Amino acid sequence: MEKFVINGGHALRGEVRISGAKNAAVAILPAVMLADSPCIIENLPDISDVAAILRVMQELGAIVRPINKTSVEIDPCHINSYVVSKEMAEGMRASSYFLGALLGRLNRARVAPPGGCNFGVRPIDQHIKGFEALGAKMTIENGMVDGKAMQLKGASVYLDIVSVGATINIMLAAAKARGLTVIENAAREPHIVDLANFLNSMGANIMGAGTSVIKIRGVESLHGTTYSIIPDQIEAGTYMVAAAATGGDVMITNVTPKHLESIIAKLKETGAEITEYDEAVRVVMNTRPKKCNVKTMPHPGFPTDMQPQIATLLTVADGTSIVTEGVWDSRFRYVDQLTLMGADVQVDGKMAVITGVKCLNSAPVKAVDLRAGAAMIIAGLMAEGETQIEDIIHIDRGYENIVEKFSALGADIKRVPIIDNNIIYKQA
Ligand code: EPZ
Repeated sequence: MEKFVINGGHALRGEVRISGAKNAAVAILPAVMLADSPCIIENLPDISDVAAILRVMQELGAIVRPINKTSVEIDPCHINSYVVSKEMAEGMRASSYFLGALLGRLNRARVAPPGGCNFGVRPIDQHIKGFEALGAKMTIENGMVDGKAMQLKGASVYLDIVSVGATINIMLAAAKARGLTVIENAAREPHIVDLANFLNSMGANIMGAGTSVIKIRGVESLHGTTYSIIPDQIEAGTYMVAAAATGGDVMITNVTPKHLESIIAKLKETGAEITEYDEAVRVVMNTRPKKCNVKTMPHPGFPTDMQPQIATLLTVADGTSIVTEGVWDSRFRYVDQLTLMGADVQVDGKMAVITGVKCLNSAPVKAVDLRAGAAMIIAGLMAEGETQIEDIIHIDRGYENIVEKFSALGADIKRVPIIDNNIIYKQA
């Protein structure tokens, strides 16, 4: 086991390059399984969630050949298993995408229910409803989600709730189904558009991705392709907030500014000066942050995956801010950790009332989930003195080279082994 040790109080300055999008990668990799020849995927983030997906694909029979740190060639032609066991899916939310991809390829799937970040109940009823509408028989047996079909057939699916995962899974299952599938009330996140672009580059016929009605006309077969994943909206947002939180001046490159609009709008409200370029944004903060209210919503609303980070910035704002979580039932578990650092936050259900304090104090804290972990790093960078963050395994799931990237911006952050009773634990 390892932890991060941060000596805070330094303004971040310089340039940071954003990696490929985690949430696009974890959808596009399973989608490769629908092809009947090899694909090359570029701009993959080097994170443990991607490694986990590639491992599962190999166990299912795919041949995975790394080309370099960010590109991989995958030959899905020999996939011969439809079972993703609990051990294979451990800790991975995106394991559910193997349901759509395997149903789409083999008309058969048995997949352990998804793990991943714990912020309350994480149902997949809308995924199941979509597969059933396409003609699959879905059951849950011995803790495994099982699906089988003779031939998937296009259908209309209205999602009762805007779900990224259900939208992606239905797209995966429908790409080669017979006839037209229409997803209504679909999610509109950038990674949904990226998945549609990827599938279309393999020969799929998908229209409307990025709007709330997606139409998928099934095709007989999909061929291999070379595809580069979009930049990570949330990684970019995390560095933007960190720049503002430390009173810094940071150029964030390899981004799509259009995907960052809601984050830019909220940071401007807090007093940050933001300049947009074609593929970069510069964030400069010269004042104490101003209070600001934030409500998370599906895209194009403010992303829930940026909620802990912006809330952390607001702990030192001048005034009282209200942050409302509009996507997940329970995404304020990290607040206890911020309180240890002197933040004044009262949580009432899906709402947090944050009364700005002058500064945070350093303290030993934990990363309770991926984005909460990123927020703890931001808190550590803001606080005077040494902050230690444990359970960083969550952070490594989604942030490539986070220590190196923050260090290059002038942060004093180190990854160190946890030493306990003379045993040194180091993460595999
Ligand atoms: C994706 O999760 C992301 N994960 C999450 O990011 C992100 O927080 C979330 O979308 C919302 O933007 C990946 O892309 C791998 P949902 P997903 O289905 O697909 C309810 C991160 O930090 N719901 O859009 O699991 C659900 O309970 C991760 O990178 C149902 O009720 O989210 C939630 O309240 C964490 N029934 C809401 O919908 C369903 O069948 C949105 O969930 C499915 C979802």
